[in-house]
Amino acid sequence: MSNTAILEIDGKKYEFPIIVGTENEVAIDIDKLRGETGAITIDPGYKNSGSCKSEITFLDGEKGILRYRGYSIEDLADKSNFLEVSYLLIFGELPTAADLEKFETNIRKYTLVNEEMKNIIDGFPKNAHPMGVLASLTSALTAFNPKSVDVSNEKEMYEAVCKTMGKFLVIATWTYRKNMGYPLNYYDNTKGYVENFMRLMFELPTGPYKIDTKIINALDKLFILHADHEQNCSTSTVRMVGSSHAGLFASISAGVSALWGPLHGGANQAVLEMLEEIQKNGGDADKYLAKAKDKEDPFRLMGFGHRVYKNFDPRAKIIKKAADDVLATLGVNDPVLTIAKKLEEAALQDEYFKSRNLYPNVDFYSGIIYRALGIPTEMFTVLFAIGRLPGWIAQWKEMRLNKEPIGRPRQVYTGSPLREFVKTENR
Ligand code: SDX
Repeated sequence: MSNTAILEIDGKKYEFPIIVGTENEVAIDIDKLRGETGAITIDPGYKNSGSCKSEITFLDGEKGILRYRGYSIEDLADKSNFLEVSYLLIFGELPTAADLEKFETNIRKYTLVNEEMKNIIDGFPKNAHPMGVLASLTSALTAFNPKSVDVSNEKEMYEAVCKTMGKFLVIATWTYRKNMGYPLNYYDNTKGYVENFMRLMFELPTGPYKIDTKIINALDKLFILHADHEQNCSTSTVRMVGSSHAGLFASISAGVSALWGPLHGGANQAVLEMLEEIQKNGGDADKYLAKAKDKEDPFRLMGFGHRVYKNFDPRAKIIKKAADDVLATLGVNDPVLTIAKKLEEAALQDEYFKSRNLYPNVDFYSGIIYRALGIPTEMFTVLFAIGRLPGWIAQWKEMRLNKEPIGRPRQVYTGSPLREFVKTENR
């Protein structure tokens, strides 16, 4: 492999360095392109453009591989837990037992959210979408924690990480409590992180909430599977906002908004709504496949396709098996799971989907499990955000510690050439 790429413009040749990653990914470093040639590249959606070098997560879309800090997603989902994986993503190594205990203890220092935050949530209508409330509350945390973190100060950065992990979980559940008209719950520092999620969501003052460890284990696995995914839309947003040296809460808030979109994390809610619509209309999978293939029809098969995976999303495989296990364990017989499997089977045999390498992604089955766990559909993407939080933090921290420049893409202008101003009476 040559270590330079040659570009010829107007008969003149230019050489640019080639860099090769740990897993032999090849990139052309065009840092000097405009200075040397006067030209820029253009790549809508950044399908062919790398924004950074990163040591956090590796994806191989062709082979369906996903690794966090070198550990396979299959191993981590099977043998680890969400807080341990969060530590791995953020600090780069699997924690010792003492590290993990210290991490959880430090998170617990920050699980009390300023009571005045309740005034903000009271300002929202009850039926406000939880993702919009979460984005606002996350940004509002800056007002109550105004001191920006010195990322080069290890202790300060560690505290900021623990504060974000502690407070985000609480305010995420407050979006549901507000929606239901329930009193807002407090984190219980004697219980585990994922167990607290269920208590914060469902515990009522009228009586004790019975924890089902099967549900906790299923959620813990789902959070691990959502924890990071290299430079996806919301993570790139967190990096972009953070590159202006905006604070961690403000950057995470922007990531929440990007994740909300139905083409991204909002797909898990859209999948369930799609499956319920198919069920309501007689469960005819073929009719909806035809709609998804019809260019005149805006309908897309939600939970299918992926910018990077042109093979099975490894997370979808794990979640599909977990869906069978969790529903069987809970004794839930949900017809939409049968519809989902029929849809997947039909799509995987259909030329349109096969020729475009469209497979189920992380969002195709996750909502079926959330529903079996009693999570309301509008909260599905909030759970995606809770899972993705450590990835956002890890990527933001890496971007700042690497002193990445402020993100500011160029453009090709195709608007009007210079023209004279025209007075109103002459228009
Ligand atoms: C996530 O990037 C990440 O890593 C994201 C994520 C993460 O963990 O952060 O993995 C999480 O966002 C998963 C994706 C969730 N979104 C959905 O399930 C929404 C449905 N999927 C699509 O909208 C689409 O597949 C995307 C947005 C996921 C990817 O879009 P791309 O890469 O821009 O691909 P494309 O739109 O150019 O599609 C290529 C072709 C097109 O057909 P042609 O123009 O070639 O004829 O495939 C078709 C598309 O029309 N196509 C679909 C389809 N997805 C792509 N046709 C029908 N149904 C679909 N779902």
